[in-house]
Amino acid sequence: MNIDYDQRIPNNVDLVSDKTLQRALEHWQPEFLRWWGEMGPEGTAQFDVYLRTATSVDQAGWAQFGYVKMPDYRWGIFLNPAEPDRKIGFGAHRGAPAWQEVPGEYRSNLRRIIVTQGDTEPASVEQQRHLGLTCPSMYDLRNLFQVNVEEGRHLWAMVYLLHRYFGRDGREEAEALLARRSGDADNPRILGAFNERTPDWLSFFMFTFFTDRDGKFQLSALTESAFDPLARTTRFMLTEEGHHMFVGRNGIRRIIERTAEVMVGERTDDPARLRALGVIDLPTIQRYLNFHSSVT
Ligand SMILES: [Fe+2]
Ligand SMILES: [Fe+2]
Repeated sequence: MNIDYDQRIPNNVDLVSDKTLQRALEHWQPEFLRWWGEMGPEGTAQFDVYLRTATSVDQAGWAQFGYVKMPDYRWGIFLNPAEPDRKIGFGAHRGAPAWQEVPGEYRSNLRRIIVTQGDTEPASVEQQRHLGLTCPSMYDLRNLFQVNVEEGRHLWAMVYLLHRYFGRDGREEAEALLARRSGDADNPRILGAFNERTPDWLSFFMFTFFTDRDGKFQLSALTESAFDPLARTTRFMLTEEGHHMFVGRNGIRRIIERTAEVMVGERTDDPARLRALGVIDLPTIQRYLNFHSSVT
């Protein structure tokens, strides 16, 4: 299951053997790059960033590190290997062979699920695009960019399914994924949490803590999908999602630790004094927490 990086679109799905699909995706690729240039991390195109890229979906290859300019990141299509004779685990079709093609009766439901999942990926990149301008540290900056390029890849994952299995309406949906904009009055993202602003780093950490966690449960459900290509795609996405939640947990922990340190050192819980001392007071942290847990 090694990923073919000689192709314009790195993939482990043997894209070369399906010329129509390959052409359709190669047509979508420049649209994606235009979107990244317009809506991806602001002012970063020229920077070398130390990023993780997958060269295969197994343990040896899923995390290869190196410097790359983000617009040159090798976004591609990676599916976990097929589980031979996989059976459907739940529901009316329990015990039947997992579907390798989309059954007509579930076509619109499956398309909706894939589009909704796909829509969250570019949405969060849009929400976070200004954060690099005010990063607390290099460490945080690198984590932010790692999350951003992976959300970009998750979009690719859903777009592959739309192109490969949903014909013309799939292609139209893939285009619409690049047309909607987080928070736009006329053409917003599908889910509410993805139209909120992420104006500062506490918001970002809360977002990765709560919203990526919600995403993780959503993806975990999809890994059990009767539609096998969806199950295999989301399984690999979950590997990357673990790090996103780590970013949230670790960020919130550091902020609270520092606040507690200053509270103890200065023997105060007065928000105004704590703010003057350069830390975030607990009532403010609580408000952020309430907001993000409720919009998620
Ligand atoms: Fe994602
Ligand atoms: Fe994520």
